[in-house]
Amino acid sequence: MYKDLEGKVAIVTGAATGLGKSIAIRFGQEKMKVVVNYRSKSEDAQKVVEEIKQNGGEAIAVQADVSKEEDVKRLIESAHTTFGSLDVMMNNAGVQKEIPSHEMSLEEWNKVISVNLSGTFMGCREAINYMLEHNIKGTVINMSSVHDIIPWPHFVHYASSKGGIKMMTETLALEYAPRGIRVNSIGPGAINTPINAEKFSDPSTKADVEKLIPMAKIGEPEEIASVAAWLASNEARYVTGITLYADGGMTLYPSFQAGKG
Ligand code: NAI
Repeated sequence: MYKDLEGKVAIVTGAATGLGKSIAIRFGQEKMKVVVNYRSKSEDAQKVVEEIKQNGGEAIAVQADVSKEEDVKRLIESAHTTFGSLDVMMNNAGVQKEIPSHEMSLEEWNKVISVNLSGTFMGCREAINYMLEHNIKGTVINMSSVHDIIPWPHFVHYASSKGGIKMMTETLALEYAPRGIRVNSIGPGAINTPINAEKFSDPSTKADVEKLIPMAKIGEPEEIASVAAWLASNEARYVTGITLYADGGMTLYPSFQAGKG
């Protein structure tokens, strides 16, 4: 637990399920005040709010589509109206869909880019605007992926969006470091969440993925939430512009293990 997080206000986008849900719950355990954003899963978001409250925390659920500018503005306002501040912006919402690149329509490309890349940009911009206006030395955390450096055939829109998030994070970190605002990313490997549910329900596909992980284990959402809590905390006060890979070693070229190559 990080004492300095107590009472801080956080927004977590896409927090009805998966990594966002775990991060929102962890922030609640840190005694932060949490805005649980969801796009359409209102009941799931409400359950996250209830869980945070049962643990003694404060939370509200707010509907917003992160790919819509007016929605993102409204989301930031909701933190101010309900909790009076915004200290931590966790841009987590994301989508993916497997399509061979030569068959990908512009519509399919735009759908992923508008949520993952433009949604993250608007979340960063609006949060930074708010922090500057209110003189808050806050922090922004973006959910990237190991696919911001590992190419991913059939997911060119997704990999491009995450590669963009990496550079966005570095650029914004450089731009706002003098104002005391830190901007970082998390790069998860393969984590046990709804985005992977279908893939991991097949034991042989799951085993294939595990072969890509030197630690030979699919990650759990809580293992990403602990990274988010650390990055948000004062323990990471000298850290900005990084992508922190939490991937069981997936980015370490596992095919070279045991002296191969
Ligand atoms: P998930 O599918 O459970 O979570 C994504 C959430 O974003 C869902 O709740 C969804 O409703 C929400 N969302 C989608 N579009 C939205 C929009 N326009 N506005 C607001 N919310 C929206 O999957 P998961 O794994 O929790 O994904 C969370 C983030 O983690 C994503 O950015 C994903 O790319 C990233 N990630 C996940 C990895 C994994 O192995 N699970 C690995 C690397 C990155």
